[in-house]
Amino acid sequence: MKALVLSGGSGTRLRPFSYSMPKQLIPVGQKPVIAHVIENIRDLGVTEVAVIVGDWKSEIERLLGDGSRFGVRVTYIQQEKPLGLAHCVRLASEFLGEEDFVMYLGDNMLLGGLEPIAEEFAKQRPAAQLVVRQVADPRSFGVVELAADGSVHRLVEKPENPRSNLAVIGVYFFTSAIHEAVAAIGPSARGELEITDAVQWLVGQGAEVRASEYEGYWRDTGSVDDVLDCNRALLDRTGTEIRGSVDQMSWLFGPVVIESGARIVRSRIQGPAVIGAGSVIEDSHIGPYTAIGDGCALRYTHIDDSIVLTGARVSHVRGLHGSLIGRSAAVGQVERGAGHHRLVVGDHTRVEVLV
Ligand code: TTP
Repeated sequence: MKALVLSGGSGTRLRPFSYSMPKQLIPVGQKPVIAHVIENIRDLGVTEVAVIVGDWKSEIERLLGDGSRFGVRVTYIQQEKPLGLAHCVRLASEFLGEEDFVMYLGDNMLLGGLEPIAEEFAKQRPAAQLVVRQVADPRSFGVVELAADGSVHRLVEKPENPRSNLAVIGVYFFTSAIHEAVAAIGPSARGELEITDAVQWLVGQGAEVRASEYEGYWRDTGSVDDVLDCNRALLDRTGTEIRGSVDQMSWLFGPVVIESGARIVRSRIQGPAVIGAGSVIEDSHIGPYTAIGDGCALRYTHIDDSIVLTGARVSHVRGLHGSLIGRSAAVGQVERGAGHHRLVVGDHTRVEVLV
């Protein structure tokens, strides 16, 4: 089996963040989303991986390289414009050949547990095996309707009146039958080649399409709230590791990771929390559920439930909550006061906060 990871797209829901970096590289827990994706694929025993990349090709390549660091071999395929998920399959047809493959959206986080679904697919080899999940409001998803024997008899993209609560999530298993399907369909009303149309085409041709329910943790990290939710879920799974220095005036509570070269000075770190390598935390309160990247400096700051990326600086801001602060961003005080701040800022942005 091969793998196809989709890491192009436009990321409109994550603007302005996605203007300055690809959403697949946002770190959750301690690693970029796409690193979790590649590791999950490797854990399925798949080593041949094609990654679809768009405008952010060089940034994605800088992280994944040839894949050897993750125990896989990565081939990059450039998509000039985000013309849809089925368009990605068309672009990868030469790489995939006649092999079965898993298609994995590069912004989707699943915490393990895909193995039984992969095994079921390998044993039964339906034309498509969709990974689905029960959701409260399926209207923004592809929704499957199952026949009595458990096979998919209809798949509808973002239905106004969903006939089931089973939403398709970001992992699909296909045999080479999908290539004929993606060649047969035309663009949807929004101008994209939809994978749901290709799968529905297979159903219409009488091909076997099945769905398996995934019950583990899953999020599409397409929005800031989902990125933060994912960060919480991953931090909940970290332990305590202290490689940096913590002075006598500081307090650590709960699971806390302090990476090498980090310095904690007169501060309180409430886990779960991670402080990246070489970061300086002075006179601050960090956490819970906060991940600070490498080389950051936080002074006289209180922050929780947030992600701060590499090289960012925050000083004299209290009450930061639910924030995503981009690489090398600077956030600082303009005047003394009190309040609650929520910031979502892209790389190299400068923000001044009235406090
Ligand atoms: P989406 O989140 O559906 O689309 P998007 O990335 O354009 O984001 P938004 O809806 O906020 O504008 O994409 C799911 C994944 O598939 C994501 O990792 C990007 C990737 N993708 C491609 O690689 N090529 C494409 O043509 C599309 C539409 C998505």
